[in-house]
Amino acid sequence: MSRGVMGVPPDEGQFIQMILKLVNAKKTIEVGVFTGYSLLETALALPEDGQVTAIDVDNKAYEEVGLPIIQKAGVEHKINFIHSPGIPYLDELLQDPKVEGSFDFAFVDADKENYLNYHERLLRLVKVGGLIMYDNTLWGGSLAMDESSLSEHMKKTRPNLLKLHETLAIDSRVEISQIFIADGVTLCRRLY
Ligand SMILES: C[S@@+](CC[C@H](N)C(=O)[O-])C[C@H]1O[C@@H](n2cnc3c(N)ncnc32)[C@H](O)[C@@H]1O
Repeated sequence: MSRGVMGVPPDEGQFIQMILKLVNAKKTIEVGVFTGYSLLETALALPEDGQVTAIDVDNKAYEEVGLPIIQKAGVEHKINFIHSPGIPYLDELLQDPKVEGSFDFAFVDADKENYLNYHERLLRLVKVGGLIMYDNTLWGGSLAMDESSLSEHMKKTRPNLLKLHETLAIDSRVEISQIFIADGVTLCRRLY
């Protein structure tokens, strides 16, 4: 399978841009950059003085494939690329009380087993009224399929995503919208 499928499809990229513009986002976080396609869409949608903190355990795909295109698009100055696993870096950000509640938007597209752990941290990092968007939350449609028909890869992550939906559905700190784009995007708006 080509690793190219890891990037969000263009309609989802457009959707992210629309959301960012609707909420006038200026300061955002992305966990899971890969070559930087969703990052490019984000940087293009942010204002000139906007900034996206983009975190990935791997820097090769970004630096070798995406960065030259991002430079050509003239938006590199809006990107703060962090070469790190997501959770420890978010914990580092949370050490600074001034950073709490300072982000307008977060997009999580990595480390699906840990979405609920990202949720607890991102709920402190985005402002009240801010948005957190989780990608692939219908996991290729596998949440509604019989487990015996799934590949090992799909089986491994499925219980975590089922748990994510169960948890978000009763999480009073957010209101949610499940969007049927790509293989599912869950949008959460922080209420308090
Ligand atoms: C699906 S791809 C991201 C695609 C990108 N959002 C896009 O649409 O163009 C997932 C990325 O998450 C990264 N990743 C995996 N585990 C991670 C972790 N624990 N913390 C940060 N990044 C991680 C991988 O290196 C990979 O580049």
